[in-house]
Amino acid sequence: MKSLILLASVIGGLNVVGADVDVSKIPPASARKDVTFAKDILPIFEKSCVKCHGAEKQKGKLRLDTLEAALKESSSGATIIKGDSAKSALVHSIAQLDPDAAMPPEGKGEPLTKDQIGLVRAWIDQGAK
Ligand code: HEC
Repeated sequence: MKSLILLASVIGGLNVVGADVDVSKIPPASARKDVTFAKDILPIFEKSCVKCHGAEKQKGKLRLDTLEAALKESSSGATIIKGDSAKSALVHSIAQLDPDAAMPPEGKGEPLTKDQIGLVRAWIDQGAK
């Protein structure tokens, strides 16, 4: 079993998309169906993101307190790519793949749990509704 895990991580390590994003390191999407912004995602964003990405402040020109705002382009383009969580910069940021682009920023809040990341991924993969 140990060698299997090792093998998987070696193979995973080769699967690099982009300069410093190894998508195989992102926790998997939740198996839950019908994940919606209002019911599942907004509570996560409200707890961990909205103080910097809400009505008062829009760091990186990103607002996450409404569905419409979350889907808009921010300073580096769309951070949510409907149907493709693995390519969504927002997912890379919450999975903390690159310490320089990790969200919440280091020391500015608890990282999201694997379950929360899985829900965000499922929501995006299901079309970000
Ligand atoms: C303490 C403040 C703070 C919190 C909390 C925070 N962010 Fe950020 N976020 C920033 C700052 C500052 C930037 C801009 C970084 C830059 O432009 O270099 C940013 C940028 C981003 C970007 C990139 C936007 C772009 O297009 O460049 C994403 C995606 C993002 N945040 C997602 C999140 C998510 C999701 C959460 C919650 C899990 C979160 N952030 C929590 C401060 C915060």
